[in-house]
Amino acid sequence: MIHIRFIAADESAQDIQTNPGHSLMKAAVDAGVRGIEADCGGTLTCATCHVMLDAETAARFPAAVQDERDMLDFAAAPVDSGSRLSCQLMLTPEMDGLVVRLPARQY
Ligand code: FES
Repeated sequence: MIHIRFIAADESAQDIQTNPGHSLMKAAVDAGVRGIEADCGGTLTCATCHVMLDAETAARFPAAVQDERDMLDFAAAPVDSGSRLSCQLMLTPEMDGLVVRLPARQY
């Protein structure tokens, strides 16, 4: 079991527990995290699963592939250097304790 904290734009936090082996998006949706819409279900065609990671957290994941970077152009909220699409972030046991920031909006 791994623990993840989601911090919304208003600084409210949602803590979830999940098992490794699936995406950060799926973990968020399954736990009812507010602020992850994931309209496309993880097929990298919607950009409504946008999250922001600090540099240390971002380094724990493989770099974004070009298709993910291209899709981030369609994110509703401004992107920053730590912006990722959470459907592309696979959770491993080493991800315990992740802290993820949510954008102010996904549409
Ligand atoms: Fe649609 Fe991630 S869920 S791009």
